[in-house]
Amino acid sequence: MMLRLLGSSLRYRTGNSLGRCVASVPQARSKSTLADIEASKVQLDLISNRKPRPDPATLSFGKVFTDHMLVIPWKASTGWGTPKIEPYGSFPIEPSASVFHYAACLFEGLKAYRHDNGQISLFRPDMNMKRMNISAQRVALPTFNGDELLELIKQLVRLDKDWIPNRPGYSLYIRPTLIASQPAIGIAPASEALMFVICSPAGPYYPDGFKPVALYGTTEYTRAAPGGIGSFKVGANYAPALVAQKEAAKHGYVQNLWLHGPEHYVTEVGTMNAFAVFRRPKGDIELATPALDGIILPGITRDSVLGIARDHVSGKAKLAGLPDDLVVSERPITMLEVKEAAKAGNLLEFFGTGTAAVISPVDKIGYLGDDIAIPTGPDGMGPISRPIWQQLTGIHNGAIPHPWSVIISE
Ligand SMILES: Cc1ncc(COP(=O)(O)O)c(C=O)c1O
Repeated sequence: MMLRLLGSSLRYRTGNSLGRCVASVPQARSKSTLADIEASKVQLDLISNRKPRPDPATLSFGKVFTDHMLVIPWKASTGWGTPKIEPYGSFPIEPSASVFHYAACLFEGLKAYRHDNGQISLFRPDMNMKRMNISAQRVALPTFNGDELLELIKQLVRLDKDWIPNRPGYSLYIRPTLIASQPAIGIAPASEALMFVICSPAGPYYPDGFKPVALYGTTEYTRAAPGGIGSFKVGANYAPALVAQKEAAKHGYVQNLWLHGPEHYVTEVGTMNAFAVFRRPKGDIELATPALDGIILPGITRDSVLGIARDHVSGKAKLAGLPDDLVVSERPITMLEVKEAAKAGNLLEFFGTGTAAVISPVDKIGYLGDDIAIPTGPDGMGPISRPIWQQLTGIHNGAIPHPWSVIISE
């Protein structure tokens, strides 16, 4: 069996959002003798002429990469090889490699933030390491010790930290990727794989203030199916989604809203998790998001929004602006419910969450030929998402000290 025992700190927990969604993934039981990733073995091949930094004002997402990358090879016969931090650049892969034919690949996305005092932090990177291992199991790629990979990512970011533009809202997007690289077109679990981590400076998602987006409720295509791969961050989920995005644009909408089944359950907003805010018949307010039922990606921003809201409700960390009796739900939401709540004036907000945008407000959903109008506040953000966004971004930029912010450089 290809799958290997995870590092002790990465065993699945059933009580968190990542654990629940993978209950059906077979888990490796026997201890492997193959080599795991070991950060202490890293070899450094540092660039001699550092590249010019891009002008932050004209930075477009994901097109410029920092000086270095991390590369770690894997072989079924020996396990993980020596990690290398080397100059960013191309590497040879044979055209027969499994990744090119069967999308045998997965990735993660997290950010490094520069605080006002110069410290650099990562946001909940342990969650990315866990999710990456869960994705690896699902597509028969090798698992690994997430603590060790994280240690290497920290080293990489420390080396290239001056690529994080010193301006509010800027960050360094980190993209760990794992591909099956064996040169063989037979469909089989990975026998060779390559892990690499690249970094790209990123600007604020909304440089000129929040811009609510219009969504097109996609009924022609499905993103995910029960038992499929929708809850895993694997490459195969993304290319087929582009046609739905193009369709949404053709109809004049910015992004698509993925619906599921004949009931048109709300699932995800493009590549973000979906949240709705309802006023309930009793008059209290509910922050609701679809439950992690196997077709929803367990977003780290989603988990953080829920955590912040629940800490407010429990009194652990009260947030000014949120009602004391806020109800926080993970439950199915149908488009009929959304439509009727909007008609009755009880749909207070709709938004997407993800690492890139953090919170992305929605002002309209095109659904079966009609537009559902959604209120947004004067600054584009609604009354429930605004305090949560402020808390989250405050944790990101260090204004609010929090255990989720992992300082990696003083
Ligand atoms: C399909 C999908 N849903 C949701 C998310 C949001 O996840 P996160 O908050 O971890 O960025 C992402 C982005 O990674 C995604 O690709």
